[in-house]
Amino acid sequence: MGRKSNRAKEKKQRRLEERAAMDAVCAKVDAANKLEDPLSAFPVFKKYDRNGLNLQIVSKRVSALGSEITEWAYELTRANMQTLYEQSEWGWKEREKREELKDERAWYLVALDADSAPVAFSHFRFDVECGDEVLYCYEVQLEAKVRRKGLGKFLIQILQLIANSTQMKKVMLTVFKHNQGAYQFFREALQFEIDETSPSMSGCCGEDCTYEILSRRTKYGEASGPSHGGGHCGGCCH
Ligand SMILES: CC(C)(COP(=O)(O)OP(=O)(O)OC[C@H]1O[C@@H](n2cnc3c(N)ncnc32)[C@H](O)[C@@H]1OP(=O)(O)O)[C@@H](O)C(=O)NCCC(=O)NCCS
Repeated sequence: MGRKSNRAKEKKQRRLEERAAMDAVCAKVDAANKLEDPLSAFPVFKKYDRNGLNLQIVSKRVSALGSEITEWAYELTRANMQTLYEQSEWGWKEREKREELKDERAWYLVALDADSAPVAFSHFRFDVECGDEVLYCYEVQLEAKVRRKGLGKFLIQILQLIANSTQMKKVMLTVFKHNQGAYQFFREALQFEIDETSPSMSGCCGEDCTYEILSRRTKYGEASGPSHGGGHCGGCCH
């Protein structure tokens, strides 16, 4: 009887601790989402003046973006990605992609040229993945004319800075294995790791999956070690 009630107490205590931890995670995500301009702390990163490019970088919530830029972002994503999606288990779904890009949780980095025309963007969100606060990079898309000039790397560095300054544990993203250029860009040039939730790690669909989930920890992620009890958590293509 005594032992049983002790076990019940411990269980209740664990539940309370878990709830408090989850409240703290959600509080960080809420605080990040309340920012006016996540780039305001990094004025040096509001310009990209290298390799023949002279661009302004802005960071905005989707609600402040304007329909012209969201339409351009959809068209650029379609031009860069439609064939790659069609070669995957997901297929290309116009309505879903449009909704994803316009989701109220979406944040954007946009690179604008001297005529204020957009040439590249990243769609990202502050979110909770498997109990961790993370910055999820949904898209990084560059027009062909501005590629291989260091701009993609610069945008991902900005996401890493924002993730650190908002106390997110890692920057995450999904990449098709058959998008070889992007895969090399993230894995080799930017040193992203295969995330513990990626299908190839969780053993869910492993080799059959056409994508990997990649991540890079921030200083907050490094301090905390592995995020959850090692069990499978999302990342499955079924
Ligand atoms: C993938 C992408 C974001 C990379 O941005 P980028 O500005 O062209 O890349 P960077 O100039 O910053 O490249 C940095 C390094 O990454 C590696 N890299 C970048 N693109 C590469 C490619 N196509 N093939 C092999 N390595 C590549 C190189 O090591 C490069 O350094 P180097 O140019 O000195 O050799 C960009 O090419 C793009 O928008 N592609 C189309 C859309 C896409 O696939 N997005 C990713 C979806 S997950």
